[in-house]
Amino acid sequence: MSLPSSPPGPPEPEIIAIGCDHAGHGLKRVILNLLHELKVPCIDLGCASADESVHYPQYGKKVVTALLARPEARGILICGTGIGMSIMANRFPGIRAALCHDLFAAIMCRRHNNANLLVMGGRVIGPDLGKEIVRVWLKTPFDGGRHQERLDLLEQLAHEA
Ligand code: RB5
Repeated sequence: MSLPSSPPGPPEPEIIAIGCDHAGHGLKRVILNLLHELKVPCIDLGCASADESVHYPQYGKKVVTALLARPEARGILICGTGIGMSIMANRFPGIRAALCHDLFAAIMCRRHNNANLLVMGGRVIGPDLGKEIVRVWLKTPFDGGRHQERLDLLEQLAHEA
């Protein structure tokens, strides 16, 4: 199956806030190098090393807080599986975190879900796939239209709960 094409759209995000726990640190280094190569501005909100075990919710929260303060920013979170960071981030209204381990998901979470946070598992995928996922996620715009209506509904229903 061929990948869906990305229509031309708005430029890449103004800035990326990136965070990880110890299990995501190795992949985060790779992604930081890529962002540097692509000249995409980014803020690294930790953790600082793979050597010390840390709690992923604390690092996830730092990136969530940065995104909520700056809606034009997007974020990347990496833990071992990507699951803990996804659960954490999606508790906050306004955050649309997508766990992606393939290129189709990375494209579609931008086109249909306007995902403002990409989550990956550093123990699940290798560096080359991680970099390709980030590349397509950065450049794929949101389709809007009926997908915006669904996102509005999602926020509305979350507030009603
Ligand atoms: C850390 O061992 C691991 O549990 C964490 O990185 C993540 O995978 C949790 O969902």
